[in-house]
Amino acid sequence: TAEFSGQITLDGPSGTGKSSVARQVAQQLGAHYLDTGAMYRAATVAVLDAGVALDDKVAVARAVSAATIEVGTDARREKVKVDGVDVRQRIRGAEVTRAVSPVSAVPAVRRLLVARQRELVNGADAVVVEGRDIGTVVLPDATLKIYLTASPEVRAQRRAGQLGVTDPDKIAALAADLRRRDDYDSRRADSPLRPAEDAVVVDSTDLAQEETVAKVVALALDAVRTG
Ligand code: DC
Repeated sequence: TAEFSGQITLDGPSGTGKSSVARQVAQQLGAHYLDTGAMYRAATVAVLDAGVALDDKVAVARAVSAATIEVGTDARREKVKVDGVDVRQRIRGAEVTRAVSPVSAVPAVRRLLVARQRELVNGADAVVVEGRDIGTVVLPDATLKIYLTASPEVRAQRRAGQLGVTDPDKIAALAADLRRRDDYDSRRADSPLRPAEDAVVVDSTDLAQEETVAKVVALALDAVRTG
């Protein structure tokens, strides 16, 4: 189905399966794919390696702008590099996950990465862009905007499944961590997490991943047909 051309934004909180859904939608539509969360995570690697305090906004922004951050847009091959080093594994680790919220809340960091996101996306005939503020801030004129949600309990279960965690206490801790990050991301002054006014809200609580993918693909094809 190479019938789709345009931009699809996929926003929402963590643990909804957003990344897998976005990647699969891009593959099915023959579109490029950009994971903006991976960009904020790569920026966090740069900050951690620079050894600056996370609450020193000026130093954080300086560390991010000094680093060479490369994120690919191929839906079939993930590429994330910081200063030439492959950080695909490291960006998913606990250290980066703990530090990414304060780093992504720094306005100068957002300005820098949003500009890069627009550069990476411009020129692509068809692209799926995943994040928190893509429909609201990065690409306000996108062809289709999706806001993907699911209940916190289901999100914690899914995250546990990915990590191979079965201990109920650890699952409860994951749920608490998800809530804390959502809360932080939706309260921050700069680009808080919220659905765009013209976004389609898709609740995946009771949907299998393939069903969510099929729903988004159908909405995308519909959007190009109806203009
Ligand atoms: O989607 P993720 O878990 O990889 O995102 C990592 C962090 O980056 C998350 O705390 C929110 C932040 N983020 C953001 O502020 N804006 C985006 N467009 C994408 C991610």
